[in-house]
Amino acid sequence: MMKAIVITRPGGPEMLQLAERPVPAPAKGEVLVKVIAAGLNRPDIAQRKGAYPAPPGAPADIPGLEIAGIIERVNSRPGEPGRWKAGDAVCALVSGGGYAQYCTVPESQCLPLPKDFSFTEAASLPETFFTVWNNVFERGNLKKHERLLVHGGSGGIGSTVIQLATALDCQVFATAGTDEKCRFCEQLGAVRAINYRTEDFEDVLNGLFPQPSMEVILDMIGGDYTPKNLRLLADEGRLVQINAMRGKIAEIDLIALMQRRLVITGSTLRARSAEFKGGIARALEQTVWPLLETRRIRPVVHSVFPLEDAARAHELMERSEHLGKIVLEIA
Ligand SMILES: NC(=O)c1ccc[n+]([C@@H]2O[C@H](COP(=O)([O-])OP(=O)(O)OC[C@H]3O[C@@H](n4cnc5c(N)ncnc54)[C@H](OP(=O)(O)O)[C@@H]3O)[C@@H](O)[C@H]2O)c1
Repeated sequence: MMKAIVITRPGGPEMLQLAERPVPAPAKGEVLVKVIAAGLNRPDIAQRKGAYPAPPGAPADIPGLEIAGIIERVNSRPGEPGRWKAGDAVCALVSGGGYAQYCTVPESQCLPLPKDFSFTEAASLPETFFTVWNNVFERGNLKKHERLLVHGGSGGIGSTVIQLATALDCQVFATAGTDEKCRFCEQLGAVRAINYRTEDFEDVLNGLFPQPSMEVILDMIGGDYTPKNLRLLADEGRLVQINAMRGKIAEIDLIALMQRRLVITGSTLRARSAEFKGGIARALEQTVWPLLETRRIRPVVHSVFPLEDAARAHELMERSEHLGKIVLEIA
């Protein structure tokens, strides 16, 4: 048996309770990881509230999309000896079940710990780096020297994309909800961060650039942000949607879309196949892991809670007081 945090029923943080569950068995092509740290992500809150059910095959009531720990057991497919062996230290993107002492994961979704990284630091990486890589660099096709606007710049996704795009020689602009958060975004590399509570981000960017000039916008807000985002995009610009926290219905000027050849896209990562996620893992290992190992990009862990205090960790995330990531440690 193992300890796990379970969602007893949809609702507030108090619905997260410590429980005993059987240790999961790895299916063919999976490994069993003894979890040492697990990252928190905003989708965990949506799942807790009942708005983001786990995909088939993932534990229905144990949240957690990213882990770091030690491989306990490998169950390779016959004739396909995998890369991993018991005792290897890994971090991994999982489809659920991360808030637990043990978690199973497809071999392809594991990555080695970047050199000199703690388990806590490594657990803060997978969900945001997989999401950012796929949405900004693959779907959004952000290229060197292009301009990127990211909303929610001070959160987990935001702090990842600001650092990564800056390290890859892009010019990054961000929005965030306080002046302190804006300074944090600028310390991470943003050229200019805009406090959306005191300034209109469209006005500020129009003041900086006479022509619409964002090549890519990463947005999780939606609603009334969408027409503003589209007006800010340069010709051939790409709007990449990864959530719609302010509303899933938005106004789109289809004539401008045609005239300026804009692209609106987006995706959700969790339900994609292990093969697809494995492809992102290999790209990250090749391109991004060296940047982490030289600390050109650094993990930003704002707070650490013991697994038992997952409810308090959720409360902190819902107050949006954090800068970067929140991580659970498992004794
Ligand atoms: N599609 C995918 O595959 C995928 C994967 C992972 C995450 N996501 C989404 O990406 C977003 C960021 O996730 P995260 O883990 O980085 O969360 P996070 O750390 O909580 O960051 C989100 C940031 O957005 C800002 N924010 C929250 N509610 C807002 C609102 N109603 N209007 C404007 N800003 C708001 C908050 O900053 P301020 O307090 O400064 O406003 C917060 O720092 C979430 O919406 C999540 O669901 C999508």
